[in-house]
Amino acid sequence: MKCVDDSRLRFGKRELVPIMIGGMGVDISTAELALEAARLGGVGHISDAMLPTVSDRRYDTSFVKDKLKQYKYNLDNSDKSDVKFDLGHIAEATRLHVSKSMEAKRGDGMIFINCMEKLTMNAPRETLSVRLRGALSSGIDGITLSAGLHLGSFALMEDHPRFRDAHLGIIVSSLRALQLFLRKTAKLNRLPDFIVVEGPLAGGHLGFSLDWAQYDLRTITLEVMQYLRTENLAIPVIPAGGIFTGSDATAFLEEGAAAVQVATRFTVADECGLPNKVMQEYFKASENDIEVNTTSPTGYPMRMLKNSPSIGSGISPGCESYGYLLDGNGNCSYIEAYNREVAAHPGAKKVSVMDKTCLCTHMRNFNCWTCGHYTYRLKDTTRKNADGSYQVLSAEHIFRDYQFSVDNKIALPALK
Ligand SMILES: Cc1cc2nc3c(=O)[nH]c(=O)nc-3n(C[C@H](O)[C@H](O)[C@H](O)COP(=O)(O)O)c2cc1C
Repeated sequence: MKCVDDSRLRFGKRELVPIMIGGMGVDISTAELALEAARLGGVGHISDAMLPTVSDRRYDTSFVKDKLKQYKYNLDNSDKSDVKFDLGHIAEATRLHVSKSMEAKRGDGMIFINCMEKLTMNAPRETLSVRLRGALSSGIDGITLSAGLHLGSFALMEDHPRFRDAHLGIIVSSLRALQLFLRKTAKLNRLPDFIVVEGPLAGGHLGFSLDWAQYDLRTITLEVMQYLRTENLAIPVIPAGGIFTGSDATAFLEEGAAAVQVATRFTVADECGLPNKVMQEYFKASENDIEVNTTSPTGYPMRMLKNSPSIGSGISPGCESYGYLLDGNGNCSYIEAYNREVAAHPGAKKVSVMDKTCLCTHMRNFNCWTCGHYTYRLKDTTRKNADGSYQVLSAEHIFRDYQFSVDNKIALPALK
């Protein structure tokens, strides 16, 4: 196999370019980015993280304003158990985002939605059910379950008419997590259509503890593939995390992977949702500027730039507007950390909270600069402009570089 293009991802009779652009919430993997992947014959992801918020920005709805109006009375109350999502609003936001993305789709590829279990939204089961079923009803090609074990997620869709024809897969970071999931889904007589194995070099939340550096993607991927062979399960395996060049991808395909999932290279694409100012921070970063920390209230470690404005920020919790990380009892570890700092600094106008961050607000405002381990190599994928900034790339350029490049080469964009 010379390059990625020598291989195809097969879903039944459908053949795709074996490149999947991973989901990046909150609207970092935009519909525009996913649409490019689909147009070029691969798989793109939109994300269902904070969709009411995304919908307000994109489709002129007012879900956030309406929610804040309803719960304004609770702003100074540290008990957020009252602050519930309107399930009808979540359904409508999902319908808008998915159906508009699918209507715009061109080409032979597919669009999937990334769905994180950790978005517990103060009613984990009910809200997840509405999100999953809403995406299926609105015509999404597939769903990638992420950030959680999802032991009950297939059951939430079981009686949906599209449960057996949509492409449903899961992201795991260990064989053990996969085994737990397969045991649960066996009861429904419905295997996943694909398995993304995400290693420790990925962006976003990690399925590892702070000892992430002791693990490596290749070992876990081979272990998963070996297990599936012994169980006689022909499920496509898609490694993710740190696959930076076409040659990195080709090496995995040669060892039996069905496709690769990539994201970091696309964070500096025109079609990506990050503001240009933030993309420039990603380009400028050196290896020492990136860390894995525990500031996310989800409990999962998260990789980000050390100069993310979210780190240390002590804004008051935005749950009345957002509240996507409230657990089933209305708690979020940022609220506790914030209240602790406020109590420790009576009368202070501003506090700093170092151990946790208000992730909803900061992700919404692109102030949590989550990124993959190899973000420090992005500068090598482009050219510098005369003013010292870096040239943002087209998604097509990056996609085709993965598809056709050989010998670990990275094609630079045309001179502007
Ligand atoms: C900026 C950024 C945001 C991400 N957000 C999510 C997310 O919301 N949900 C998720 O399952 N994975 C998320 N990821 C992980 C990617 O989907 C992907 O699996 C992984 O980053 C691939 O590795 P790579 O970035 O080294 O190519 C994110 C990655 C990045 C870089």
